[in-house]
This record gives sequence, C-alpha cells and structure tokens, in this order.
Amino acid sequence: MAILPLSSEKLHWIAMTQLRIRSSYIPGYRSLTRFAFKSAELPTTNFGINFENPVGLAAGMDKKGENIPNWENLGFGWIEIGGITLHGQGGNPKPRMFRSTKHRALINRMGFNNPGSEAMLERLSKQKKKKWATIPVGINLGKSKITPNEKAEEDYAGTMELLWGFADLFVVNVSSPNTPNLRELQAGSELDRILVACNKVNKKCAAASNSECKPILVKIAPDLTNEQVIAIADTAIEQGCSGIVATNTTTSRPEKGGVMEQSGGLSGAPLRGRSTEVIHLLYSHTLGKLPIVGVGGVSDSESAWEKIAAGASLLQLYSSLVFEGPAVTKTINKGLKKKLKEHGYESISEAVGHAHRS
Ligand SMILES: Cc1cc2nc3c(=O)[nH]c(=O)nc-3n(C[C@H](O)[C@H](O)[C@H](O)COP(=O)(O)O)c2cc1C
Repeated sequence: MAILPLSSEKLHWIAMTQLRIRSSYIPGYRSLTRFAFKSAELPTTNFGINFENPVGLAAGMDKKGENIPNWENLGFGWIEIGGITLHGQGGNPKPRMFRSTKHRALINRMGFNNPGSEAMLERLSKQKKKKWATIPVGINLGKSKITPNEKAEEDYAGTMELLWGFADLFVVNVSSPNTPNLRELQAGSELDRILVACNKVNKKCAAASNSECKPILVKIAPDLTNEQVIAIADTAIEQGCSGIVATNTTTSRPEKGGVMEQSGGLSGAPLRGRSTEVIHLLYSHTLGKLPIVGVGGVSDSESAWEKIAAGASLLQLYSSLVFEGPAVTKTINKGLKKKLKEHGYESISEAVGHAHRS
C-alpha cells in the first residue's frame, strides 16, 4: 500500500494537537518538556513588560491559541497568537502551506484562517479559566477579507476591544501578503487611521479596567522600499506605538522552479538577510527610540545575534521550529548568552544595536 506524504498543513496540525494533548493528559509531560528545553535566563524588559528571554513564537504558528500554556515549556520567552480577524474565515483553498527543505524555507498563503474574534473570546475565556501562560502573550490582529480597506480600522479595533483582556501586547499586522490589498494599509494615512482607532479602544479598555494601556506594535513587510520603511516608522512614532515587528514573510524568491513557483509569503533562511537589513534601517532611523522585534530566518545563535546587533530588542521565530525542531529556542538562548559574554555585555538590552557601534 502506497503511503501518501502528509501535507505541511496536516503535519502542522498533528504537531499542534500532540503538544496540546500530551501536555494536558500525560502526567509529567509538561515538567519533562520544561526540563528538556529550558532556556538560559536572559531577562529583558521592553515596553514595561518583563521577558525571561528575548525569543518569542512568531504569529501564525498558534493561530487559535490552542497551546498558550505550553510554549514556555519549549523555552520561549513570549508568544504571539493569531492572526485573528473580526469575522471568522476559512482562509484560502488548500494546499496553502509548502516546504522547501533545500532552502530551509516555507511558503504559505493561509489567508488568515481563524475562528474570528467572537469565537476567540469564548475559546480564550475557557482557556484562561483552565490554564494560562506565565510568559507574555501577544495577539496578532489581522483584517477580515470581507472588510474593505476603507473600513479596516473597525476590523482591527473591533478585535482588539473584544480580546483586550487576554493580551499583554497587540501587533497590528498590515503586512501579510495573503489578504488582497492588505499591504496597502502600510501607507501613512491608512496606517494612521488604524492606529488612531486602536489607540482609542486601548484607552477605553484601560480606563474601564482601571489599568494601563497595552503596548501596540506594527508588523511590516520586507518587500517595502527603504523610504516606505522609514515612513511607517515615523507614523508609528507619531501615533505612540510601542514598537515595530520586522518582518513578515516576503513575496520574493531565492530562485525559480519547484515549490518556489507557489504564490504566497516565503519565510525562513532566505528571508534572513532582508529582515536584518530592515531592522538595521529602522534602528538607524529611530536611534533606538522604537523597540524592534526581529523576525525572519532566526534559526541559531548567529542569526539571532545578527538581529540584536542590527537593533532588535526582542526576537521571534516560526520556520526554524519546523526545520530545527523543539530545541531551537534553547540552543539560541544558550548561544546568545555566550555571545553577550564574548562581547562584554551584561544583558540583551545593552547589546541591542551592537553593529552600529562597532
Ligand atoms: C504558515 C504561516 C502562517 C503565518 N501567519 C501569520 C499571521 O497570521 N500573522 C502574521 O503577522 N504573521 C504570520 N506569519 C509570519 C510569521 O509570523 C513570521 O513573520 C515569518 O514566518 C518570518 O519568520 P520565520 O522566518 O522565523 O518563519 C506566518 C508564517 C507562516 C509560515
């Protein structure tokens, strides 16, 4: 009997389900994974939040927040769940996730498949009653396909309002290549409108719960010109954003043929260089005033250090978890600790922007 190869999306589903079920039902599984994958302590504080280590899980891996309490057992210092849109949607037709082992890259055109913010409110409420993360949890905000760009702010701010109580920080994602015209929302006035609406909701929710506003970050694409990157940074600063996440997936390809012909966003090793370039540019322009989350091809301590040296205060990864396996975060943090020592830094925050000084 021929065995059909499982699609990348099926493999992802199996891994997520196994992590959830084993962590919930096998006695000792949580402690065992925590022991096996525990990261070196590399405490760092950004936008008023303490992180045990800088390495976070990038958006898109845990779209529905199924494994919120479990990622810290794999050594992550923080996580970002989602993207979540105001209206539930199935995303693009399958297949929509592809692997290139040769390039250590993924191509996806998922299209924000998610249950929508109302259903997520229910899911997260149930999860919070059972068990929650002890590490910071970010929520990635996307825009529903049915919402026109002219009303995008209602979509982003609507999700934020419903899920405000569950996030330590929010990421406004205007950079996914898989929702038609979404990337146009990165332009000055469009982004401005979205951030004004999110700031309003943030203030309203903070006042209602007698607490502080939550950090709002903007996630940008790597396929922008340098002038566009700078314009977005200026808008983010004007609107009082807490940081920039650089970058989302790219529409460019390292070569032609095979899987590379698939449409969608490419992540992993081939994205590393451009993502670091964007971080470098942002840091030079903002002079460290706007914390940067470095994401794109982080897979070992070299690529992680490169991002911190370019100006990233925090990191995220997705593809390397697929290609390197669950020990990747532990390995990165161990290597980063060594790098700090080699360069005579006491902490990650001291090392941020190292390349600009040496
Ligand atoms: C299958 C898949 C789904 C993704 N979904 C989202 C998403 O919903 N929102 C978002 O901001 N980024 C999303 N991303 C982008 C990642 O968060 C990250 O920016 C990108 O993969 C680059 O990091 P990496 O090279 O470590 O994978 C997704 C990536 C992949 C591979």
